[in-house]
Amino acid sequence: ENLNEIRKGLVGVVADVSAVSKVMPETNSLTYRGYAVQDLAEHCSFEEVAYLLWNGELPDAAQLADFRKEEASNRAITPALHQVIRAFPHDAHPMDAIRTAVSFLGLEDPDTADTSEPATRRKAMRLLARIPTAIAAAHRASKGQAPVDPDPSLSFAENFFHVVLGKVPAPEVVKAFDVSLILYAEHGFNASTFTARTVTSTGADLHGAVTAAIAALKGPLHGGANEAVMHMLTEIGSPEKAADWLRGRFDHKALVMGFGHRVYKNGDSRVPTMTRYAEKMAEVVGDRRWMEMSRILAAEMLEKKNIHPNLDFPAGPAYHLMGFDIPLFTPIFVASRITGWAAHVIEQSADNRLIRPLSQYTGAAQRELPHR
Ligand code: CMC
Repeated sequence: ENLNEIRKGLVGVVADVSAVSKVMPETNSLTYRGYAVQDLAEHCSFEEVAYLLWNGELPDAAQLADFRKEEASNRAITPALHQVIRAFPHDAHPMDAIRTAVSFLGLEDPDTADTSEPATRRKAMRLLARIPTAIAAAHRASKGQAPVDPDPSLSFAENFFHVVLGKVPAPEVVKAFDVSLILYAEHGFNASTFTARTVTSTGADLHGAVTAAIAALKGPLHGGANEAVMHMLTEIGSPEKAADWLRGRFDHKALVMGFGHRVYKNGDSRVPTMTRYAEKMAEVVGDRRWMEMSRILAAEMLEKKNIHPNLDFPAGPAYHLMGFDIPLFTPIFVASRITGWAAHVIEQSADNRLIRPLSQYTGAAQRELPHR
């Protein structure tokens, strides 16, 4: 036993095989089931990508129509869940709200404890469809607004706007949102996915795995960073102040949110695509301030620290420009990543071995109990 063998944070540890996605730091690239994520984002819908992640292949027209129909017809949540959501404290963080709502959906699900693959797939579809409804109901309740019923005639992305804001924006805004969902859908053994796989490895069910994954995603070092980015930009306030503000952060050796990545050290392939769509949103809204600030921060971080932005950096201002309140940003990540989590849960279950690492003990030496 040698302390040097311990990989703190499991840095560089290959924990298992996976056929879902491939993260390639040497080329800063990411593929889902073999397809480059930037190509999927540009040319596919989120529903097609969800199908791809769950089935290994892109759907043909009939398969996609069935998938869309299945998702659209499963969006409603029960009066019981609406009642639970109304009982949440109004200042509850939406990530805590959706974590609790997913746990409750598990109580209601007819297949809850059935961990067979067909049951897990049915449950995953129901979660994919209902998570936006629950996120929106909780968010609206916190603002004293009545929930909006999901509309099965709308796409996943359109319906998200509909249930949260009560209206569907212009197609270019919906496309930018759909792109963000595709880019957020899956990312190898990140902390929340590994959490979901660990829970699954004990033989526990999908709702348990997803509830735990949401808890992991909330943290500011993981999904919570997209909210932190927008708080940071709001605090900076204007492009002229960006460089000075950043210098202050450097002086305090503080983290700058939306920068750095455990795996990508030379840039994240999702960033150029998301930045382009965030720029489009700035044009549509006619508010260049956030992207201007972002450009200055990214240039300074690269020049002074050699650290590149991650996906959360352009996603934060993009969501703000689309009209979403900041506390919804990480729940949107949940609405997308449920696809990747479920794909990994299915994969883990199909070839399972309990995940149970070791620790090296550094506490008190073995000793006698005091006389009593
Ligand atoms: N701001 C300032 N310095 C940084 C940052 C940052 N965002 N990220 C890394 N560094 C520094 C870090 O302090 C360290 O410096 P030193 O060698 O002097 O100690 C060096 O860069 C290497 O970083 P590390 O701590 O070894 O990196 P890690 O792999 O342990 O952590 C990370 C990765 C993502 C947790 C970290 O970069 C971070 O905290 N970033 C800010 C939060 C963030 O944006 N998270 C989103 C992650 S990606 C998408 C997602 O999951 O949502």
